Amino acid sequence: MIALKGIEKVYRTDRIETVALSGIDLDVREGEFISIMGPSGCGKSTLLNLMGLLDAPSGGTVAIGGERVATYQDRALARLRNREIGFVFQSYHLVADLSITDNVEIPLLYRRMPGSERRTLAQAALERVGLGSRMHHFPSQLSGGQQQRVAIARAIVGRPRIVLADEPTGNLDSQMGNDIMALLKDLQARDRTTVVMVTHDAHQAEQTERIVRLFDGRMVN
Ligand SMILES: Nc1ncnc2c1ncn2[C@@H]1O[C@H](COP(=O)(O)OP(=O)(O)OP(=O)(O)O)[C@@H](O)[C@H]1O
Ligand SMILES: [Mg+2]
Repeated sequence: MIALKGIEKVYRTDRIETVALSGIDLDVREGEFISIMGPSGCGKSTLLNLMGLLDAPSGGTVAIGGERVATYQDRALARLRNREIGFVFQSYHLVADLSITDNVEIPLLYRRMPGSERRTLAQAALERVGLGSRMHHFPSQLSGGQQQRVAIARAIVGRPRIVLADEPTGNLDSQMGNDIMALLKDLQARDRTTVVMVTHDAHQAEQTERIVRLFDGRMVN
């Protein structure tokens, strides 16, 4: 589903060159749930951003669903990202002055879809994450765990085949973290969604099918 070959990522600023990733070969199968672990600064977020087509590698190739991405024009890339990939971040990234229903609808705005249909899908996604009774709330009126569940609803509302989560439980206590893990596992089990999660939590990583470990930009085992 996601195939990375010979990936290099170098960040250049005027003075320094940081090699964030080097020699990464990784295949994530359709419907697989994997976790990425490693110390701070080892390249986990960089790797996830490459998988999510948010950033381009300095070398190597990224393929999504068997299609090489390097050849895509910007608009095709944006469409592919919007349809196939849902993102969840550590700090939720919700829009504060939109209701949670409006937040969840955001990915659907890029598709031609009537407002009533968007609303129906957003409400279904919120029900799925257990927030059916909070549709009209604003992010600030919810707990951290609830806000992260809104972020998951937003990630899945367009039924992407891939969900990428960067330390989704990093700001949450362990009970709320378990709830988020349960949701991600349910996506994999019921929808065969491919899930890639960055985590510092070994107990969570053990619940996934495979742990990819990074150290200094390289995969280690
Ligand atoms: N935009 C950028 N410009 C320059 N260097 C960057 C940039 N983004 C990341 N880096 C560098 O690339 C390396 C990998 O960063 P990355 O954010 O992928 O680490 P990480 O494993 O996600 O760390 P953490 O666990 O702290 O989130 C780090 O050395 C970082 O300083
Ligand atoms: Mg990171």
